[in-house]
Amino acid sequence: MAERARRKVGVLISGRGSNMAALVEAARAADCPFEIAIVASDKPDAAGLAWASEQGIATFAQSPKGMPKAEYEARIDAALRSAGVELIALAGYMRLLSPAFVDRWGGRIVNIHPSLLPKYKGLDTHARAIAAGDAVAGCSVHLVTAELDAGTVLGQAEVTIEPGDTAEALAARVLVEEHRLYPRILAEFVRTMTDDPLARVRSLALGLPETSESNEDGQPSFTVADTPFARMTGDSALKVRSDDGWQTLSLAGDIDWTLVGDAIARGWELTAPPALLEAGGR
Ligand code: GRF
Repeated sequence: MAERARRKVGVLISGRGSNMAALVEAARAADCPFEIAIVASDKPDAAGLAWASEQGIATFAQSPKGMPKAEYEARIDAALRSAGVELIALAGYMRLLSPAFVDRWGGRIVNIHPSLLPKYKGLDTHARAIAAGDAVAGCSVHLVTAELDAGTVLGQAEVTIEPGDTAEALAARVLVEEHRLYPRILAEFVRTMTDDPLARVRSLALGLPETSESNEDGQPSFTVADTPFARMTGDSALKVRSDDGWQTLSLAGDIDWTLVGDAIARGWELTAPPALLEAGGR
């Protein structure tokens, strides 16, 4: 089989980085479709940064203290881009990314969250699952949108809650599953994005706020507030709402994904209701 370039992933962490380490270990396998190009953090003393650096991986730290969020994110963005990053994996990154940042990386940011989403977004997931009397807990890998823990779920693993479980004991068992799930789903995601243009269009479109997929005459169509802004056409092409009506983009051969991503984002912008735009939807 012809060897394919591995997709460059940038990992953002805030702490110990055990999920990042699991991704680094997985990337050592010859058939892994991704490599970890850089590990970046908002915490210069994050334990995971020192570990990554010992492994010979490029690292970058930037505290957000004393600067506007936009400037902090611009520095993270610049570090990721100069490392050639194509996809971002959040792994215990404890900051909400701004809509502008998420938009710039449209559909190319994933996260791992320690609950079976859509249950228990945010913090203290295990304590909440135990308090609710749930029989199972688990973890989810999902696409990141500007809304906390709300993007499309790409994969999940379940863990049984035992009688008398504590949040700590449950967290430890879920973490073992996180380390298995994240590399597997990230590899799947990268492979689909590489081999299947529709999957990539889907992740770009569904990465935008309040979007959903429907079927129009047998073709996938992407809507915001029930109005289509992009749709596949039979002949490997994508129609996207544009300033002049609709434009058709070819999805055959070498695809300029930056152009496609920008066109999809513009189509969304032209279609989203004013309230969503004003709320800083993107
Ligand atoms: C994990 O539980 C992950 O699901 C959550 O934050 C924790 C990070 O742990 N997002 P680590 O830094 O990967 O060890």
